[in-house]
Parts: sequence; C-alpha cells; structure tokens
Amino acid sequence: MNRRAIGIFDSGLGGLTILKTLCKVLPREKYIYFGDTANTPYGSKSKQAVTRFSLAIARFLESQQVKLIVVACNTASALALTELQKQISVPVIGVIKPGAVKALQTTRNGKVAIIATEATTQSKAYPKELLRLHKNLTITQQACPLFVPLIEEGWIHPQAGEHIIADYLRSVQESGADTIILGCTHYPVIKNKIANCLGPKVCLVDSAEVLAEEVQALLANSHQLNTKGRGTLKIYASDDPLRFKRLAKNILGRPLKQVYLKKLN
Ligand code: DGL
Repeated sequence: MNRRAIGIFDSGLGGLTILKTLCKVLPREKYIYFGDTANTPYGSKSKQAVTRFSLAIARFLESQQVKLIVVACNTASALALTELQKQISVPVIGVIKPGAVKALQTTRNGKVAIIATEATTQSKAYPKELLRLHKNLTITQQACPLFVPLIEEGWIHPQAGEHIIADYLRSVQESGADTIILGCTHYPVIKNKIANCLGPKVCLVDSAEVLAEEVQALLANSHQLNTKGRGTLKIYASDDPLRFKRLAKNILGRPLKQVYLKKLN
C-alpha cells in the first residue's frame, strides 16, 4: 500500500502550487496529478458541475490505485468534498481547513480576509471553517474571477494587470485584515503581485504547508508513508497537454518530460 501514488487534482495549473510543497515535504512519494483543463475555470460553475467533474477525476485516480486523494482546488473542496468523501474508497482531503488553520496561526488582530473564486466565496466555506475554529473573528471575502483565466493564460509580465489586482483588493485593504488567505490554489502563482499591492504589513497565507503536514500525518498514522521509494510524478490534463506542459514548467520550476491526455467521461 505504501508504494501506491498520491492522487492530486485541480481545474488546471493551480494545484501544482500544492504539489510543489508536497514534493518538498514528501519527496519519496509517487504523485499522479490531474489538471482538468477542458473544464477550467471551476470558479464560475455550479456546484452540480464542479461535483460531476471532481467525481469523474477522483474515480479515474481511484482506478490508478492511489492511496489518498488531495483536492488541490479550493472550489472543488468547497463544493464537492463531502460528496467525494462519500463516494470514493480512499481518504480524500481538501484545502479549506488547512488554509483556515494557517490563517488562525498567523493573524494578530483577528481580522482575516479571503480572496477566492466566486463559487468559493459564495459557498462561505472559509468563513464557516474559520468561525468553527475560532469564534471571535472579523472576516471579509472578495471574489477575484479574472485571476484564474489570466494565470491559465500564463500571466507573467511583472506590470500587467496591476489595476485589476488593485481593484479587487480594495475592500480587503479597507477591512484592516492583517492576514489574507489565498483561497484559490492558482493565486500563489501571482503572490508577489498581490504582496506588492497590499504592502509589507499584511501576511499572505495559503493551504500548502499545513496540508502537506496533514497528508504526512495521515499516511504515517496508517503506515502508508513511502520512506524508501524514489519520488515520481505523472501528470494528466483533460485537454491540450502540450500547452499544460509548457505552462506547468513556470510553476514547478523544472521542465516536465510528458503530460498525458486523459479525457473525462
Ligand atoms: N485552483 C482552483 C481553486 O483553488 C480552481 C479555480 C478555478 O478553476 O476557477 O479554487
């Protein structure tokens, strides 16, 4: 069982920010990553649609004999995690709780803001989780629907889109939050742009580190940690794998040998 891979998925490139941290913390594990490029972005889709895509991917990963599935997508975690946990035979973990835990460890003034997709903000998944963990918090949410399409297009020019970022982040700045949750796994790709806009007094947090610790603990407790193996990575995309391969290099910081095409049923 411990030689089996960890399955991980997102609507596209964003989950690679989680994968990168997982590979650092658990370098001996095998990973199978699925980017649902045919259906991205998830953030503007309905709960039914996101649940359908997520179940199809999780079933594919299950067929690859994975020992655990990481939903490296806030939108799918917010809308589909419960259904995945009901229907999938291996443990399925999402990114909302780890992001909320990290924010609580970070905030000093009890004011936390979340920037995320429209679907994630509408679900209120972060406010619910934060308030479950801690009663006295002031919480602000802001949807940033243009960020994901821009990142999927390879938005790398340093100055490009500064006004879009400033516009989205105005309410967050006005809220006085000292901690901002990057509530979409795509956003760490533009973390520097967001940090430049918000200034040095604000801390940006994401789910990656706490999630990696959670995965490590879960595998260790069930004696499934791969302690001897050589880390491997296999990536699937549901559309245009060559494009995915080209853009993924910028996020992972290393070229990929191959990205395989896998269309969802
Ligand atoms: N990276 C995903 C998230 O964390 C998906 C964004 C999208 O496809 O809209 O929400």
